[in-house]
Amino acid sequence: MTEIDYQMHIYAASRAGLLEKIAAAMSAKRFEHVLRVEEMALRLAECWGVPAELASLAALVHDYAKERPDADFLLVIEQEGLDPTLRDWGNNVWHGVVGAELVKSELGIMHEEILDAMRQHTVGAAHMTKLSQILYMADYIELGRTFPGVEEVRALAFDDLAASVGWQTQHTLKYLIEKSVPVYPGTLTTYNAWSV
Ligand SMILES: [Fe+2]
Ligand SMILES: [Fe+2]
Repeated sequence: MTEIDYQMHIYAASRAGLLEKIAAAMSAKRFEHVLRVEEMALRLAECWGVPAELASLAALVHDYAKERPDADFLLVIEQEGLDPTLRDWGNNVWHGVVGAELVKSELGIMHEEILDAMRQHTVGAAHMTKLSQILYMADYIELGRTFPGVEEVRALAFDDLAASVGWQTQHTLKYLIEKSVPVYPGTLTTYNAWSV
């Protein structure tokens, strides 16, 4: 079990209480995924010199909103005055980009770098901090993932983090196109910024 005490200015309440709230927001299966993402994010953070507590918190909250009904996201888009074109997308985009607002209001996490990592964890961004890159990759390569090539990209994330971000983005884009699924413009921006 991971033992991390968060500094007051980063998260002012206890890890145990946070875990309880996160577990209550999702299925047991998803909560296990979240804990595996945290484990991988901590390994990557150690490798790339990012503070463990930031990696831990970003990983723990990243899928907090994944199981919320669409209506919750549509309400937040309106109330927070987020980009109205977000309405055209769905849970895949919303649970990060819009879900970060719920993490602020319901979990009290206000650290912008953590929130940005959460916002970017599915779609990426042209500019991503090391923390954002770590969460983006940890979600993709956590030890429960078994897709073809996972071992290759897992090794790459520890060898060249930016190249692994490009690898993931390219594979995700290929997958979406093969499935004839619309591509969120932010994903294309990420592809153009990170792929060689
Ligand atoms: Fe997610
Ligand atoms: Fe996830």
